[in-house]
Amino acid sequence: MSASMTASAPAAGLASALEIRGLVKEYVAGKPVLRGVDLAVPAEGITAIIGPSGTGKSTLIRCINRLVEPTRGSIKLHGEELTGLSGRGLRLARRRIGMVFQEYNLVERLSVMENVLSGRLGYVPLWRAWLRKYPAADIERAFMLLDAVGLPEHATRRADALSGGQRQRVGIARALMQRPDILLADEPTSSLDPRTAVEVLELLTRLTAAEGVPVIINIHNVDLAKRYARRIVGMSGGSVIFDGPPEQLETHHLRAIYGGEDWM
Ligand SMILES: Nc1ncnc2c1ncn2[C@@H]1O[C@H](COP(=O)(O)OP(=O)(O)OP(=O)(O)O)[C@@H](O)[C@H]1O
Ligand SMILES: [Mg+2]
Repeated sequence: MSASMTASAPAAGLASALEIRGLVKEYVAGKPVLRGVDLAVPAEGITAIIGPSGTGKSTLIRCINRLVEPTRGSIKLHGEELTGLSGRGLRLARRRIGMVFQEYNLVERLSVMENVLSGRLGYVPLWRAWLRKYPAADIERAFMLLDAVGLPEHATRRADALSGGQRQRVGIARALMQRPDILLADEPTSSLDPRTAVEVLELLTRLTAAEGVPVIINIHNVDLAKRYARRIVGMSGGSVIFDGPPEQLETHHLRAIYGGEDWM
């Protein structure tokens, strides 16, 4: 891709990784939380979703990996419709979607290495996973990723012995272990101190660029969103009301997204 291209609108001929059309989610019938979201996520770079609490950012991410059942609309990953998938089709689709969580979601009593390897669970036959037998190539890749996230000497430590920042590094390595087509991160730095948050975002940016994995990240910190994302999606009231590169996000947009201005 040419360096001059803006991320906001994928250029003609460049396929989006993910295409969302008319996505509606009603947890309670007649009360939509998402009100017809359209979003095309480019094949590379970080897309940051910002917006006030309760506006449906997590719901959007959960609709993509189908932890939440969309009410209406279309979600296509490299052209494959994800809504309506079930059973094996859904399991196969989920293998292509990496997840990074605010509270890390590691298996605390397992080692760092086993947590990273568990990113491959969708691929390894269940009996081998039970026996904790992974192919040599997986173990090699897990070591490579642990090295990349700066934790090579922590492979055998239990996850519950790590700090939050270290845990999130393991979370990122685990998500990349499955070689996803897209990575979804719901507030991955909200539980971290400001400096660690920056370090984790640096790492996420660097590794996903190296692996060619596009990222959708929900984030409350607008400054960090502008610093690391190629593209900002501003949501309010369950709709997208801003979609463009960080340099186009102005004060009046933030006012429209978050409401009021006494907080600014
Ligand atoms: N499982 C659920 N059942 C019913 N309502 C839900 C459920 N999950 C979320 N909601 C509601 O949907 C709305 C959007 O919630 P969501 O968690 O998607 O917002 P958010 O933008 O991620 O907020 P935050 O920034 O606080 O994480 C809220 O009103 C919430 O109460
Ligand atoms: Mg949320």
